[in-house]
Amino acid sequence: MTALLHNETIDVLLNRRSIRAFRDEPLSEETVATIETAAQHAASSQYLNDWSVIRVTDQERKDALAEIGGQPYIATAPALYVFVLDEYRNMVIAREQGVDVDGDAFTLKNSYRFSQAQNDAVLALHAMETAAESLGLGCVILGSILNDIPRLIELFELPKYTYPVLGIAIGKPAQEPALKPRMGRGLQFFDDVYNSDPAFVTRNIAVFNDEVHTYHDLRDPNTPVPTYDVQTANKATDTSVLERGFDHAAAQGFDLDH
Ligand SMILES: Cc1cc2nc3c(=O)[nH]c(=O)nc-3n(C[C@H](O)[C@H](O)[C@H](O)COP(=O)(O)O)c2cc1C
Repeated sequence: MTALLHNETIDVLLNRRSIRAFRDEPLSEETVATIETAAQHAASSQYLNDWSVIRVTDQERKDALAEIGGQPYIATAPALYVFVLDEYRNMVIAREQGVDVDGDAFTLKNSYRFSQAQNDAVLALHAMETAAESLGLGCVILGSILNDIPRLIELFELPKYTYPVLGIAIGKPAQEPALKPRMGRGLQFFDDVYNSDPAFVTRNIAVFNDEVHTYHDLRDPNTPVPTYDVQTANKATDTSVLERGFDHAAAQGFDLDH
């Protein structure tokens, strides 16, 4: 395998792992300002800046998120953020500019904007994650908070043209999980065209299956982690994810059919 280049940024990225236990220490004001500003510097589709963040400081709301996500450590995170895709602010701006935001020509509510706003939010979240990790903090991204989207919308008073994307918990790590293996690069990177031969997948996933099986998951240290193929098959029929989709987008004013 070709040797990798190293610098501080690369090493932060290569050592990234999810942290799910935090020391009971708040982040300094400078740290908060730094990671929030780093998030703001992420790229933004057509410069619409169409994402916002709820910084969750109120313990009752933290508890509610932990309950929704079914993950108690969420309530103990020193810093907790919920990223939302946000065309509300842009709608207000456009309306002030005289745009008829109730007319058919108003496209901030349509699927392209929705998906690009989601991309923007994810890029910003990832910038925040990397910035936090570069300062010695640990993070975990939280899709589990989407288990009850209507409750999130109510909890954070999310207006029309906003939709929750992901949460992130950040703090000083109180655990040292092993790096989780990644599949061989050849399985994810194709030269010029996609290789859709199923035999290619089956042949090349075998080594990764074994590597994943030997990973020691701190969440359940006494149970061997299933091989990747078994994990994937289980997730392929996990109906709990149906709650986490875009079913509530129409109620938030979006028209994702166009
Ligand atoms: C979009 C997204 C949602 C995630 N949601 C959760 C979550 O709700 N709870 C959790 O404990 N980890 C969550 N994770 C973390 C993944 O489980 C983790 O990244 C993955 O198992 C790989 O492990 P690593 O981050 O330690 O490399 C999420 C990660 C991503 C990218």
